[in-house]
Amino acid sequence: MHTGRHFLQIPGPTNVPDRVLRAIDQPVIDHRSAEFAKLGSEVLDGMRSIFQTTGHVIIYPGSGTGGWEAAIVNTLSPGDRVVLFETGHFSQLWRQVAERFGLEVDYVPGNWRRGADPAELEARLAADPTHAIKAVLVAHNETSSGATSRVAEIRRVLNRAHHPALLLVDAVSSLASIDYRHDEWEVDVTIAGSQKGLMLPPGLGFNAISEKALGASKTARLPRSFWDWQEMLKSNRDGFFPYTPATNLLFGLREALHMLQEEGLSNVFRRHVRHAEATRAAVQAWGLEIVCEDPREYSSSVTAVFMPEGYDADKLRAIILKNFDMSLGAGLSRLAGKVFRIGHLGHFNDLMLAGTLSGIEMGLQLAGVPHKKGGINAALDRLTQPEPESAAAPPARSKEVAR
Ligand SMILES: Cc1ncc(COP(=O)(O)O)c(C=O)c1O
Repeated sequence: MHTGRHFLQIPGPTNVPDRVLRAIDQPVIDHRSAEFAKLGSEVLDGMRSIFQTTGHVIIYPGSGTGGWEAAIVNTLSPGDRVVLFETGHFSQLWRQVAERFGLEVDYVPGNWRRGADPAELEARLAADPTHAIKAVLVAHNETSSGATSRVAEIRRVLNRAHHPALLLVDAVSSLASIDYRHDEWEVDVTIAGSQKGLMLPPGLGFNAISEKALGASKTARLPRSFWDWQEMLKSNRDGFFPYTPATNLLFGLREALHMLQEEGLSNVFRRHVRHAEATRAAVQAWGLEIVCEDPREYSSSVTAVFMPEGYDADKLRAIILKNFDMSLGAGLSRLAGKVFRIGHLGHFNDLMLAGTLSGIEMGLQLAGVPHKKGGINAALDRLTQPEPESAAAPPARSKEVAR
């Protein structure tokens, strides 16, 4: 029997704010009514600012996996060659989707500790003078490893090579928590889901689409029906959907968008950076190893941590769940049992982080995992550091990115 609130510190689904729960807890309305059209238009418009785009956004009843499929079937044709970077468990799953649709996937090998390598892409594009590569697929934030790919650099490489491949990016665990710029980085399709930075329950999948991707969808030949952008866009013009939408999740989305607007997107990003830095300070003080091996690619939404050799991460997680009612993320596929993941994204604050890290430190103690003391203090020191002056300004724009 546990008292108080459960700590849901997996890297998604994340904690849903009471405001959002209350917004969802309403009578269902007619999805062909004027009231719905207003809701539909409002959330479609609000999502544009979250993707940092002025283009089209599509909201599916679905999940991130549906968003992957939608991006593929709307833009590509059977046998098309695509480059997909092996960043971890989720790149692996995306590859499966692509292969099931008959795409020829050049899977760029990776060690599950880094993001997509721009230099490797440069080499592959240079070896493709006939432009056989039709798309480049990248997970912006690989949730299994806590490594964030440098999408702006990937775009620069494509532009320098004057290569016309589409850029498809999975922002499922970064949207609304790590700075993400669909337009500025000239991403063609961005995929997202409701259950992470957007602070909603699972149940929605998103595509943000460029004009170029929309153009590609006119000639793409993969079969599609439910995921067809054209049908959606036609109905969305008036705030409607071509089939029954997830009405009450859209009530929740409207409220989540209000919350994100009230905080300000740049403050949301900064909050995630602070919490990630404090988390890493704790992990390093414990003497444990962070999975992401390139500090430029540290994720601000999730930190994956290696267990010392011979110690089982799932046992540690079970002890923490039993004693402190906290769920941490499991190591996935290749990393199962070797890694635990701390989700620090979405509806989250300093004291929730302090509680999370305290639960981990106590769990390490109870599980007899060798570690040094002082992780909590290191994190609290980071949290009480004054923010630098520049923190008052919005995040630096990198206009040169696409040139
Ligand atoms: C980076 C990433 N991509 C895709 C997915 C798949 O999304 P879903 O489980 O919502 O289908 C996830 C899920 O956690 C994810 O973290």
